[in-house]
Order: sequence, then structure tokens, then C-alpha cells
Amino acid sequence: MDEVLVNCVRLDDFGRGIGYVLGKIIFVPNLLPNEEALVKIVLNKKKYMVGEIGEIIKKSDDRIETRCPYEKCGCALKSLNYEKTLEFKKNKVINILKRYGNLENVVREIIPSANIYNYRNKITLKVRDGKIGYFKNETNELIEINRCEIASEKSNKIIKILNENDLSKVSEVTIKDFGEVMVIIKGNMNISKLKPLVDSIYMNDELVYGRENIIASLGDFKFYVSKEAFFQVNMDVALKVYLKVLNYLDAGKKVLDLYCGTGTISLFLSKFFDEVLGIEINEEAVRCANLNKKLNNISNAEFICGDASKEIHHLKFQADSIVIDPPRSGLSLDGINDILNIAPQRLVYVSCDPMTLARDLKILKNNYEVKEVTLFDMFPWTYHVESVVKLEKKIN
Ligand SMILES: C[S@@+](CC[C@H](N)C(=O)[O-])C[C@H]1O[C@@H](n2cnc3c(N)ncnc32)[C@H](O)[C@@H]1O
Repeated sequence: MDEVLVNCVRLDDFGRGIGYVLGKIIFVPNLLPNEEALVKIVLNKKKYMVGEIGEIIKKSDDRIETRCPYEKCGCALKSLNYEKTLEFKKNKVINILKRYGNLENVVREIIPSANIYNYRNKITLKVRDGKIGYFKNETNELIEINRCEIASEKSNKIIKILNENDLSKVSEVTIKDFGEVMVIIKGNMNISKLKPLVDSIYMNDELVYGRENIIASLGDFKFYVSKEAFFQVNMDVALKVYLKVLNYLDAGKKVLDLYCGTGTISLFLSKFFDEVLGIEINEEAVRCANLNKKLNNISNAEFICGDASKEIHHLKFQADSIVIDPPRSGLSLDGINDILNIAPQRLVYVSCDPMTLARDLKILKNNYEVKEVTLFDMFPWTYHVESVVKLEKKIN
């Protein structure tokens, strides 16, 4: 039974088509609901199978001609009509919040990305045996690429130049394009052809060309972008997310920005609060946050470098509002308890993982009412989605 006929009934949370073969579930990447295909079984486990499309026999009306010829490097929804990808993401979060957070009727809308192609300001490419590309999902197998439709056009020019160069001594290249461009190379290569296109080049952690940091503009603010520190990958959507955070918090006296990165949210909030305190674990991000404060002439924001879930425990800062924007892992139980002890009137939770969000909201909702959730398509064509949640302290 190497090739089987599969009818796709729906997508799983990772955007893979789901079908059944003799009662056993099969996951088929790139197969869309209501499609029928001949599928090659590539993994056959006791409880599930994974397949690869051989031939699509019945096509969905929602299937689009994709611009990208590559498979399985991250854009799991690349063959689905964009409107339908938004619907998929909205339903996914609604289901996860219901199933794991006991929350219903809280998701309002999903805001699309203004740019659905060329939206990423950062890509990390792997290099193996002198060839450049992305790793195939969950493997170390290289998919060689010439261009990437979600990367900026400048990044694609750089990929072209990289492809023309000898990359035999390189293992990874990161390109950050915020108008100003930084290239971070792990390994050694001739950079003469890159120089005219970029503002900064690092090779093996050493600055070998141009400036230490580049500058990004977002709304009325300017931010330093460094080699290591986190920055949201989609500028249009990042701005919309930050404006929603502001809208959900309103103004106040003291606001705590947990997991503040380079201080982006803190600086947006500084205009509407008397005092802002940001906490971030990455030293370089905190250094950028302090530089960003100066760059934007802001005097009412301070930053602490440390583990947010530990620093918050002995904090003498009575915040009336808290913003939380943690990595995928979400909050720790101790961190949640400390937030509950500070007991701010308002909380805004920004999350890139609905599963950990649902887990954390399930606890927070004992003390806070989950007022509403707005979703943002920060990562078009992937199964990822950004959520912004407004919480308000319950009256005892
Ligand atoms: C999703 S990013 C958000 C950054 C920022 N709010 C923004 O919009 O750019 C999460 C940030 O949390 C930081 N981080 C990860 N673990 C942390 C921890 N335990 N304590 C404080 N910050 C942490 C990461 O370095 C990263 O900058």
C-alpha cells in the first residue's frame, strides 16, 4: 500500500490536509479541504500516517497558483487562497482557546497583512556543501533556493549574489532588511559583491563592514536593529499590533512591558503613561532599548536586563497596566502569580502561540476578564498567527 487515494476533510493546526485511510488518520502537506489525491505514504506509524501528494485528482476552488516552487520550507498554506488562510487562522485560534482555555466568543477579527509577499524583514538561510536554502520542515535536509517570495526584494538580490559566490566555508547567512540592510555570515566568504547593497556585514560575530547597528522606522519612531536582538518580522503588521496594544491599554500612570525586546512597545507607550518599565533577558536587546530611548528623545522609560518571571518577583513598581509579549513558551506559573500579585487594572497579552496563550489565559481568567482578542496575520502563508488579548481585572 504505497500510494493511496485520500479525500481531505480539513486542515490540522499546522496547515496539513487530514484524511483517513482504512480508518487511520493521514496528514498530507499541501492537500486542501475537499480535494482528492493519490498520496504516497512516507511514514506509517501505529496511530497515524504522513503522506506526500502524488497527483491531485479533484482540485479545490480555493487552490491558487503559487509563486513559490519549493515545498515544505515553512509556507504550509501557500496553495490556499489568502482570504481562506485568514479564515483558517481565525478558526484555529477560536478552537484552541475553546478547547484549552475554556474561552468562547472572545475572538473579534483577524487583521490581514498589507503585504502578503516580500513582507519579511529577516530571513535565515542555511548553507550546506556550498549550496544555500532553507531546511525542510523538522529536518536538516537543505532545500536549495534562488529566491523566497516572502523575503524582501533586496534580500532576494542578496540571495542571488550569494548563489554566485563560493559558499564552501559558510554554514548560515541571516539577512535583515529594514530599508537599511545587515548581513550576518557564519563562516568565511568574499564579501566584495555584497558591500554595495548593504549597510552592515558581520562575519563570525565580527563586524567586517559598515555599521554596528542598522535603523528601522516604525510609525513616528526609529529603532536600532542589532545582530542578535529580536525584532518583529513584518513591519506593517508590527505597527498594527502596537497600535492595538495602545488601544487596549488606554492611558495610565505606570506600565510594565514584560519581554520588551528592544523597547519597541515601551517607547510607543511612553507617550501615554507617566512611567514605563521594560524587562528583557537579552543583553543586546536591552542595550538597543536604551539607545532607542535616546534616539527618540524619551525620558520616562527604563529597562531592566533579566528574566522577566524572576525580576517581577521583587519589583517595586506598582504598575496599573502590564503588557506581556513572551516567546512561544508563554508564561511560567511563578510569573503568572507575580502578575496576579501586582494586580494591575489592565493586562494586554501579545502571543505568537495560541496553545501557550490558551494555557495561560485559563489561569489568568480566574482574576481577569478576557474582554477580547484581535488576531494579526504577521506571517502570511505560514500556519502562524499573532494574537493580542485585552484583559481587565475582575471586580471582587
Ligand atoms: C516575542 S519577543 C517580543 C519583543 C518585543 N515586545 C517586541 O515587540 O519586539 C519576546 C522577547 O522576550 C525575550 N525573552 C525570552 N525569554 C525571556 C525571559 N525569561 N525574560 C525576559 N525576556 C525574555 C526575548 O529575548 C525576546 O526579545
